[in-house]
Amino acid sequence: MARHRPSVSLVGLGYVGLCTAVTFAQRGFETVGMDVDRERVALVKAGRAPIHEPRLDRMLHDALRTKRLTVTDDVADVASTDAIFVTVGTPSRADGAIDTSYVEGATRQIGNALRGEAGYRLFIVKSTVTPGTTRTIVKPLLEESSGKMVGDGLGLCMNPEFLREGTAIQDAFHPDKLVIGCADAESGRRLKRLYRTLYGKDLPPTIVTTPETAEMIKYASNAFLATKVSYINTIANIAQRVPGVDVEEVADAIGRDPRIGPHFLKAGPGYGGSCFPKDVQALIAFARTRGYDPSLLDAVEDVNERQADEVVELSERLVGSLENKRVAVLGLAFKKDTDDIRDAAAIRVIHRLREKGARVAAYDPMAIPAARRALGDEVEFAADPKAALAEADCCIVITEWDEFRALKAEDFTATMRSPNLVDARRLYRPEELDGVRVLAIGRGHDHAKGSDVPRR
Ligand code: UDX
Repeated sequence: MARHRPSVSLVGLGYVGLCTAVTFAQRGFETVGMDVDRERVALVKAGRAPIHEPRLDRMLHDALRTKRLTVTDDVADVASTDAIFVTVGTPSRADGAIDTSYVEGATRQIGNALRGEAGYRLFIVKSTVTPGTTRTIVKPLLEESSGKMVGDGLGLCMNPEFLREGTAIQDAFHPDKLVIGCADAESGRRLKRLYRTLYGKDLPPTIVTTPETAEMIKYASNAFLATKVSYINTIANIAQRVPGVDVEEVADAIGRDPRIGPHFLKAGPGYGGSCFPKDVQALIAFARTRGYDPSLLDAVEDVNERQADEVVELSERLVGSLENKRVAVLGLAFKKDTDDIRDAAAIRVIHRLREKGARVAAYDPMAIPAARRALGDEVEFAADPKAALAEADCCIVITEWDEFRALKAEDFTATMRSPNLVDARRLYRPEELDGVRVLAIGRGHDHAKGSDVPRR
């Protein structure tokens, strides 16, 4: 291809749309970001990212300053771009299946706007959708609304994303792979060429396949990672019932086997976030519609739900009945460095603590506003860890924030009524916590006594 850089647009300025938009803009593409939410558009236009993501604010600012990124609520601005990525949400329905109404709405809106356009346009589904959606739902809608046929001046691809919150920009610049599911060969060639322009000689390994396989790759990827987490949590739950066994050493050892690999073997309070819970549920619901009962995935979900009970049980081992006990919960976000509490383990744990009559004082460096909206006055929100720990009978550390990792024995012993600690993220070594009674996920303790077993 000549030096011409195709113009691109992102429809849906959520997490994925915005991070992808600034990535294209930073690499010199003329980029249009569109959303139907006017408030969001106004915010982004003013250079304020509606989500917290490292590097995003600065990149957004640069993209707007250099005018590489235009932000709009007018779909006509999108219709004139060469490649149109749909990045709207696919929320869960009550039965776990995905709701594709935003994808359908965006497709129809874009299709209508494409009617008067003469040049080749490439339409790309980046939203997470279950296998078959692009070909059986998006394609007919797009053809009907645009009056064009896929393969004749109109391209159609499914191109899933694998961005992690907290490292989304880094992931967008350096993906480990690209997956291009194309309705026809020309669409696939065009999208690959677009990415070659974006990544140059660093083009990641690119899998060109059918839209259905591309859709499945996204679900298979997230469901596998969720399975790894539930697997290691299962081993952790067994380990903590056997004095002398430590899941961290187990994970370290098994992770050296290249067939297993070292990543995603960190035992904890269970996975959360905007993707894993929703995607596992959607894959389960989808499998059922196809007449298959995916019992492995049911178990992955079940283990994850029950992990909150494990955490609460550890606190009961330390303090007995939780009725009217004050429990300090450190960490609300589903992982560190985000303010996102969607499906966070902390919320599950807090609900269970409340059911058992505990009074909860919670602290998180970033997620308190979101948690306040979700939990209301069920919980006392503390200004810092010290305030949460004051007079507490037990502390549960749920998110692996660096700020919590830095806590010392004195931080617990000085202010707590009794220094009991549940280390649900394995942040501390027991020998660092002199005078604190600690039970950690996956570290064997004497079940009968509820006391910790010293390492070695
Ligand atoms: C995930 C996928 O990693 C990403 O590729 C996809 O596009 C979106 O979903 P994200 O939700 O940002 O990204 O979080 P991730 O870092 O993957 O963690 C998911 C959850 O698993 C977190 O709650 C995390 O605490 C938990 N986790 C992860 C563990 O408990 N143990 C681990 O070893 C790894």
